Amino acid sequence: MRKFAVKSFGCQMNVYDAERMAEALAAEGMGTADEADADVIVLNTCHIREKAAEKLYSEVGRIAARSREQGGRKPVIAVTGCVAQAEGDEILRRAGAVDLVVGPQAYHRLPALLKRQAAGETGIVDLDMPAESKFGKLPPRARRAPSVFLTVQEGCDKFCAFCVVPYTRGAESSRPLRAILAEAEALVEGGAREITLLGQNVNAWRDPEDAACDFGALMRAVAAMPGVERLRYTTSHPRDVTETMIRAHAEIPELMPYLHLPVQSGSDRVLAAMNRKHDRAFYYDLVARFRAARPDLAITSDFIVGFPGETEEDFAATLGIVEDIGYAQAFSFKYSPRIGTPAAEREDQLDEDVKSERLARLQAAISASALAFNRQSVGRQCDILIERRGRHPGQWIGKSPWLQSVVVEQESLSPGDLVRVDLVRAGPNSLEGRIVTAESGKHGKA
Ligand code: SAH
Ligand code: SF4
Ligand code: F3S
Repeated sequence: MRKFAVKSFGCQMNVYDAERMAEALAAEGMGTADEADADVIVLNTCHIREKAAEKLYSEVGRIAARSREQGGRKPVIAVTGCVAQAEGDEILRRAGAVDLVVGPQAYHRLPALLKRQAAGETGIVDLDMPAESKFGKLPPRARRAPSVFLTVQEGCDKFCAFCVVPYTRGAESSRPLRAILAEAEALVEGGAREITLLGQNVNAWRDPEDAACDFGALMRAVAAMPGVERLRYTTSHPRDVTETMIRAHAEIPELMPYLHLPVQSGSDRVLAAMNRKHDRAFYYDLVARFRAARPDLAITSDFIVGFPGETEEDFAATLGIVEDIGYAQAFSFKYSPRIGTPAAEREDQLDEDVKSERLARLQAAISASALAFNRQSVGRQCDILIERRGRHPGQWIGKSPWLQSVVVEQESLSPGDLVRVDLVRAGPNSLEGRIVTAESGKHGKA
């Protein structure tokens, strides 16, 4: 039996794609293996920042060196994901060990392309963005962990000045409601209790078969399915927020009190230059409306520091927004110029050391905010969804409704258990919980 390994380097959608590729290869009778024993290695790449994209080439070098050392045959290397889409056959020129290059909208053809490669064809590149979506051509979902991803919307029409996603993933497109519900049903049957709806602009989702059915209605439909205990979604764009989506947070008990709403910068001047299509006041207003619907909402964001032309004053506005909003957590990145994007062409690029220094200051502010958020959770009681064992024997780690990692001391638990805990201590990255009862706090669902 031929064996494969799939490795993901990107966002949650990239992880979802990797799972679906693995399912497609398994459906062809291939087995999984560790990378060192695999006949086929799929590298599912990310192009968002320079460092992420460079990982591909070091990874290919490592695989080739290992097979030389072991004196064995080089495994077949397939490069998929966003670097595949962006660089195409350039990858074959730069990394001779790569056999196939397959884009994010073409990976349902991976098994067929591997067969062509096995039959002797070389230089296979498939970057098609077909009108018909890949989803209908993939095998049904396999058994999965208690917490799973489900892509409902893909692509981006926003064209932020710094970002490659509109080029690597293509235009915004939504999957039909009935296809999403069918996939959710299969996931629940396979053991899932928590579903995270994914999209590059997830809240731009609209049923292609019914324009009146928006993202709020989708959340309602998925949450109503038997077996769905917890619902999450990511990533939302501020411009696509609707009243039904805000109301969902007040009305759907399965919807977790958590919102990832990236703002990128606190400066109106930088937001305009980034083409984010909203200003700071608009964002504050959204946050206030969400909090009115769900006062305990955990809000998180992404930030970019050192965008071309960013002044110390602009950066101070970003620190200000972190202070004002009280984020539960946030990702922050140094601006990375990407070929083909408008911001990369600008002449007012910042020095690397300015970016590093601002990143360090921002990260300190975010840590302080996360610690404050976690501290105010102490004293609360909540359910945690058990995910994995902790560092020490007898410990398990689960997720709170606010997506905090909570460590509990109890031997007899397993992944997927929902257990009620008192939150007793907080650090910047996790909390300690004490189990109240191992009764799951379900909303009366089977
Ligand atoms: N669709 C999502 C984000 C997708 S990319 C949104 O609009 O928020 C994830 C994050 O990577 C972005 O939020 C941004 O903070 C960061 N990012 C994107 N392009 C970048 C670049 N060129 N340099 C640094 N960070 C970048
Ligand atoms: Fe990139 Fe902006 Fe689209 Fe997000 S909204 S994927 S940051 S272009
Ligand atoms: Fe990276 Fe593509 Fe996701 S560029 S962040 S893998 S959409």
